[in-house]
Amino acid sequence: MKIAIDGPSASGKSTIARLLSQRLGIPYLETGLLYRFFGYIAYKRGTIELPPDELFKEDFKVVIDVGKTEVYWKGKRLSEELRGEEVGRYASLLGEVPAFRERMIKFFRELVGSSQVVGEGRDVGTHIFPQADYKFFITASPEERARRRYLELKERGMDVSYEDILKAIQERDYRDANRPLYPFKPAEDALIIDTTNKRVEEVLEYILSIIKER
Ligand code: DC
Repeated sequence: MKIAIDGPSASGKSTIARLLSQRLGIPYLETGLLYRFFGYIAYKRGTIELPPDELFKEDFKVVIDVGKTEVYWKGKRLSEELRGEEVGRYASLLGEVPAFRERMIKFFRELVGSSQVVGEGRDVGTHIFPQADYKFFITASPEERARRRYLELKERGMDVSYEDILKAIQERDYRDANRPLYPFKPAEDALIIDTTNKRVEEVLEYILSIIKER
């Protein structure tokens, strides 16, 4: 069984996908983490003008398991380094490069193969696993997503402002939706869930009820 969970940043999709993976006991693939890894490399080098082939020569490894996705670089696991807004911005810029996205799609398909997975990101249901058994598109208002991201970054000890985050989210939404190739949008057969006024548990139970129904 393959499940696609897509949605914009800070929509709650990661939390939901991780919990769903745990409830079902099948691996969790957070595709955004690898985008963030390459965003981190691009950020360090100060450019996104990097050929995908060269980026993929980096000594990296992705490990997926129930409830977690890990990225290793030169044998060391990266985590907090990948979570900042600036790295996210570079990741989003790289996501606009079609050759890079195609490489990523291929990488994820090979990584998962015929295994079961809860795949989470922007294009899991549209491009990575278009044949997924279930597709959910998780969203929330920009203000609510900014509020959630603000609280999350504060908790990680980062010095951030709500207004800056809201602006960054709005800009990124616009860019993601308007890129000429691979624009970010729900798969036609995805079930859209607006989580603005919903608790995580509520959304999770709803998704599980749909999976159990069939
Ligand atoms: O989900 P996230 O905010 O951690 O993702 C960071 C960026 O990576 C996001 O702005 C867009 C990009 N991304 C993408 O283009 N396609 C994916 N499948 C996952 C992430």
